[in-house]
Amino acid sequence: MSNFIITIDGPAASGKSTAARLLAQKLGADFLDTGAMYRAVTYAAMKADTDLSDENKLIDVMESCEFDFIPENSSMKVFLDKRDITELIRDSQVTANSRYIASARKVREKLVQTQRQFAANRNAIVTEGRDQGTVAFPDANVKFFLIAQPAERAKRRLAELEAKGKAGSLEEIQKSIEKRDQSDMNRNVGPLKPAQDAIVIDTTNIDIEQVIEKLYSIVTERGYKTD
Ligand code: DC
Repeated sequence: MSNFIITIDGPAASGKSTAARLLAQKLGADFLDTGAMYRAVTYAAMKADTDLSDENKLIDVMESCEFDFIPENSSMKVFLDKRDITELIRDSQVTANSRYIASARKVREKLVQTQRQFAANRNAIVTEGRDQGTVAFPDANVKFFLIAQPAERAKRRLAELEAKGKAGSLEEIQKSIEKRDQSDMNRNVGPLKPAQDAIVIDTTNIDIEQVIEKLYSIVTERGYKTD
């Protein structure tokens, strides 16, 4: 298998991260979480006390830091200047601020380059984000776009928080998801939208096992061969 690329795009909490991770595991492919890249830059910029709305300053931060994105056990570890920040980038303040970084054209261009380099060195990847099928990998072998109703997405996010022993309000979570949808869909660069040739899957009423079965059967029909 040489350089087989599967993209999974979709809105926040649509299930794409879990689906991408499990699909990569089932296929023996590497998993790329591009949201973690935007989060890592957000975290570094916050640490440096940078004006998040100034894209030249964000580029300075990117150039003065070393980021490493390392696949590990069908997941992805994130390092900033050799320090493991995988968990720190999930902080709610990082999540809220990530929209500034995601709207900065120059940052997006750099991260898309990094994503292509990641893919170039690998036999097969499952990459997830917002613009993977449209901008980063327009020639991907298979493109998926996962959607789910906001109320269901909020329920899933709350369950994730509770599993980590954290509390949250369903209403607040849904509001914040809807705010991120608006910001993701309406930015000028790399907006959230399905590629013309993407297969759209609504996960509102199906569980993760059924999602994986669906994706797996489509990918193998499209010529992916597991060893
Ligand atoms: O999927 P996530 O919640 O980890 O994404 C974090 C942020 O990065 C969110 O603001 C959307 C943005 N993002 C993006 O603009 N493009 C991507 N390919 C991936 C994420």
